[in-house]
Amino acid sequence: MKTEINVLILAAGLGTRMKSDRAKVLHKLGGRTLIGNVLRTAARLDPANILVVVGHQAEQVEAAARSAVDPATAEKLRFVLQAEQKGTGHAVICAADALKKAEGLLVVFYGDTPAVKAETLRKLISEHERGGHAATLITTRQDDPPAYGRIIRDGNGRFLKIVEQRDCTPEQRSITELNPGFYCFDVPSLLVALDRLSPHNAQGEYYLTDVPQHMLDAGLSVGTVLHEDAHELDGINTRSELADMWRRVRHETLGRLMAEGVTIVDPDSTYIDSSVTIGRDSVIHPQVIIEGDSSIGSNCEIHSWSHLTNVEIGDACTVLNSCVMVDSKLTSRNTIGPFAHLRMHAELAEEAVIGNFVEVKKSKLGRRTKSMHLTYLGDATIGDRVNIGAATVTCNYDGKQKHQTIIEDDVKIGSDTMLVAPVRVGRGSVTGAGSVVTKDVPPDTLVAGIPAQIKKKLVD
Ligand code: UD1
Ligand code: CA
Repeated sequence: MKTEINVLILAAGLGTRMKSDRAKVLHKLGGRTLIGNVLRTAARLDPANILVVVGHQAEQVEAAARSAVDPATAEKLRFVLQAEQKGTGHAVICAADALKKAEGLLVVFYGDTPAVKAETLRKLISEHERGGHAATLITTRQDDPPAYGRIIRDGNGRFLKIVEQRDCTPEQRSITELNPGFYCFDVPSLLVALDRLSPHNAQGEYYLTDVPQHMLDAGLSVGTVLHEDAHELDGINTRSELADMWRRVRHETLGRLMAEGVTIVDPDSTYIDSSVTIGRDSVIHPQVIIEGDSSIGSNCEIHSWSHLTNVEIGDACTVLNSCVMVDSKLTSRNTIGPFAHLRMHAELAEEAVIGNFVEVKKSKLGRRTKSMHLTYLGDATIGDRVNIGAATVTCNYDGKQKHQTIIEDDVKIGSDTMLVAPVRVGRGSVTGAGSVVTKDVPPDTLVAGIPAQIKKKLVD
């Protein structure tokens, strides 16, 4: 039977070195918070439970955690409060009651290590199980070590203990094998070792890093596994480390995309989250930002200064310069922009086109429908082959409530038409320029004026 996996993330600290009023784990790497990144990776281990120790701005951290993961993962989240931050060991002690109920093994790491990959955590788990250890930890090597705990070994290379940089002797400081802060524990052995922690060190804190040594003292076995890519496991402590990490992560993402057949015209000025997928022969121009859960098909072209967040874009679509798209969808062969704005589940069916200064909110445009200039389409369902003239507005808000506009197939909306919702324009009808449409328009009818009146029936 597969051993059950539990995950514990420590995220209670303020992150003093960030010089911020916001808890460190709420800062963003690209489009996603540090805690969000960490939890999405944890979720890929398919754990039974994910415990998160929160303290500073606990409410905001909890909210950020829940919103970063899918609903099934959100069900597995449990939050433990560490009201006063007395160190990483103390944070785990705060979770002790919750841990007593956990079956199987426990993976512990810090909320400020957003680039760790699930496969690295799996490697840690399999070494832990293979060795039958009470604790297993990842180690890394860096020649010019940051302020990390040092791995102390005996003359035979056997692991002895971790010493925090601030508690190191000068000789220990020169050690280049480091503790990046990823641990796998047998839970009952961990609970015993936690009882032995004391704050007699340079920072007066209960260190989680003292646990392995206590386990060895109790005759238990501790394993280590060296991980080659030290930077993947870097913890973010300062804003400049955050920027360095983002640069590394996005160049890795851009490298992956180029290897998959995407043209990135200028990798140095292109900002794409690691979760984004793009099909082959798509071209991403300089100064583009693509964030969140976004997918872009093949043969697309995304032009400069466009910012896309949580988008679904099908094949052969063109996003012209300076478009903003959030939580919205292009189906295929669509063109938008320059300066188009799609938000709140806007959706364009095949070959629909929107042009400059067109905003589409919570609306669907049918196949081959066009809206080329200066228009607001909100809470609207628009059929196929509709033409929307310049400066059209769906007047969807009466000051209290939002209302729907329905425009059926083959309608022509004249320039500067105000569609006062709720309202429906029947199939094949036409509105004259400057109309204010306050009542439903039957099919095949020309309306015009303020308020719009029926002028004639249209015969095709
Ligand atoms: C920690 C490790 C160090 C390691 C480094 C790697 C300890 C004592 N040291 O140091 O060996 O090399 O990470 O990045 O563990 N936290 C709490 N409650 C607390 C204190 C911290 O939840 O009382 C959380 C913080 O929110 C943070 C994480 O634990 O996300 C790590 O804390 P931090 O202060 O950044 O530890 P480091 O000094 O970086
Ligand atoms: Ca840290």
